[in-house]
Amino acid sequence: MSDSPHPHNQTTLITGGAGFIGSNLTDALLERGERVICLDNFSDYYDPARKQANVAPHLENPNYTLVRGDLRDRDLIMRLFEEHRPTRVAHLAALAGVRASIEQATLYVEVNVQGTIHLMDAARQTGVENFVMASTSSIYGKTDRIPFREDQPTDRPLAPYPATKKACEVMGHAYHNMFGLNFTALRFFTVYGPRVRPDMMAYIVMDRIVHDQEITLYNQGDMYRDWTYVDDVIQGIVAALDTPLGYEVINIGRGEPIRLGDFVAIIEELVGKPARLNMQPAPLSEPPLTFACVDKAKALLGYQPHTSIREGLARTWAWYQTLGTASSVTG
Ligand SMILES: NC(=O)c1ccc[n+]([C@@H]2O[C@H](COP(=O)([O-])OP(=O)(O)OC[C@H]3O[C@@H](n4cnc5c(N)ncnc54)[C@H](O)[C@@H]3O)[C@@H](O)[C@H]2O)c1
Repeated sequence: MSDSPHPHNQTTLITGGAGFIGSNLTDALLERGERVICLDNFSDYYDPARKQANVAPHLENPNYTLVRGDLRDRDLIMRLFEEHRPTRVAHLAALAGVRASIEQATLYVEVNVQGTIHLMDAARQTGVENFVMASTSSIYGKTDRIPFREDQPTDRPLAPYPATKKACEVMGHAYHNMFGLNFTALRFFTVYGPRVRPDMMAYIVMDRIVHDQEITLYNQGDMYRDWTYVDDVIQGIVAALDTPLGYEVINIGRGEPIRLGDFVAIIEELVGKPARLNMQPAPLSEPPLTFACVDKAKALLGYQPHTSIREGLARTWAWYQTLGTASSVTG
């Protein structure tokens, strides 16, 4: 029906919908008039008050339902699917820190792997049409093959976090094979923008310059990251939700690695103050470079990243300034 308030008559379950990327995706789907169910446990990996602020505008929308709950609670997940009957899943909830995962492999497996299996079980039992999940560029580990293509080997992750994401990608294939679940894993490349996590470089650099605190810079700033602005990532997720593909793994990046030192210099310009840098060797969990080949995303999803690093950082800085002086890295 063309006058339906819900285009495609979709109800999308967004897991991690109170987080950085999830809350931006919620904005986009509610904007289209779709129904959104958010599942989030407001984990204290960073200040839950930020997540509360992220969902505050959504709570006023009649098409939005917030379910506070944990991916590890299998019964709750099943009840959620039976009650709300989502037609699609955007699975973004996870523990997402590379360095934080080093000492917490068991917890990362419970949340990221078991949690994903709970969702896929409920999805296939209730006939979900499309299951899209957030994977990561860190899955490529340390490699000389650039740009990173989806068909190159990814069986040498550098830390537990990317290893858990790899496990989800391959379990997704098993569910596609056994139950015909449409499953797309999107490998995001260092996402930044408004509501960015306080443990991410874009936030840390802004916050520490503002508060005259030291910033640890690895490898003399000679590390490269394919920073991708959140609006471009959302464009990719929405296209993937709209396009069931059987089983696919697709990079969502910008395709233009930026040197960390240059990234910091742009932020110094925006803030109008120099950074205090503390140079350290890069830890073993950190690859020297990430670089997305986005040809597959362009071909299968019509994906087209268009936000330059300067524009994206200027928008992130504008958002940061709305937070007030209470913000701090520890969140
Ligand atoms: N931000 C990036 O640069 C980036 C890059 C690659 C992949 N990803 C992936 O994208 C997704 C979203 O990342 P983000 O940066 O928005 O992170 P985020 O931490 O802001 O969002 C994740 C959300 O998941 C929720 N969550 C955590 N554990 C949960 C549990 N057990 N049950 C229910 N909810 C739980 C958290 O409360 C949080 O709101 C993650 O899967 C992450 O691994 C992010």
